[in-house]
Order: sequence, then C-alpha cells, then structure tokens
Amino acid sequence: MIGRLNHVAIAVKDLAGATALYRDTLGARVSQPLPQPEHGVTVVFVELPNTKVELLEPLGADSPVAKFIERNPDGGIHHICYEVDDIIVARDRLKATGARVLGTGEPRIGAHGKPVLFLHPKDFTGTLVELEQA
Ligand code: CO
Repeated sequence: MIGRLNHVAIAVKDLAGATALYRDTLGARVSQPLPQPEHGVTVVFVELPNTKVELLEPLGADSPVAKFIERNPDGGIHHICYEVDDIIVARDRLKATGARVLGTGEPRIGAHGKPVLFLHPKDFTGTLVELEQA
C-alpha cells in the first residue's frame, strides 16, 4: 500500500545551524527557509537524489514541534512520510485494522499542497507516520 518515501522530517531548535550543517558539512542542496504558519513550523527542504529531508523549526506558540524540542533538546527525527495512491482508501484500510489516525481523521492539505494524514506513533513502532497522497 505505501509507496515512495516522500521525506524524513527532523525537528531542530536552530534552523540556521541545521541548514548550515546539511549544506556545508554534508554537502547537500538546501532550500531557503519557508515559514508555514498554518503548520506551526518553518521548513528547510534538503533535496537528495532519491528523497527529501525536511528540517522543521517551531514557529509560533502552538507549534506541534515545540513540545518535541522540549523533550529532545538536540532535535531528532519527528516523522517519516510515505506516499499512497489514494489517501482515503489507505485511511479506511488502516482504520479497519485498528490503527489510529490523528486529528479529525480527515486529510488536511500538507506542506506540499497535497492531502496528508498522520498515524499514531504508538501503532507504528514508535514513529509518527505521515501519509501523503502521491
Ligand atoms: Co511531513
């Protein structure tokens, strides 16, 4: 059911420092910072040949990433995103197995302008999973 790895999201406290690390130390191609107030993050996209890494810095008081940074002051992997052909079919199939979909259970428009859902980390080996319509 799941397809390509769309991205790995890494929460960071210092976006400029993390960007420099990926650009200068690791030699990756990185984007300009992109504030996404509706998602409570500022994002830098790290473009790799086969996938993306997204560096997420908390933005605003209600950022979903802020608590993660409180618990993980050095930053860390926040979620991984897999592509699915049909997000509604995928959701219904997962819910039928007892997996928990976060929020209202309805897809929201994600950072790439496509419908996304998040799955409870406790149901997926301790990892927050994002599904994105391909
Ligand atoms: Co994501």
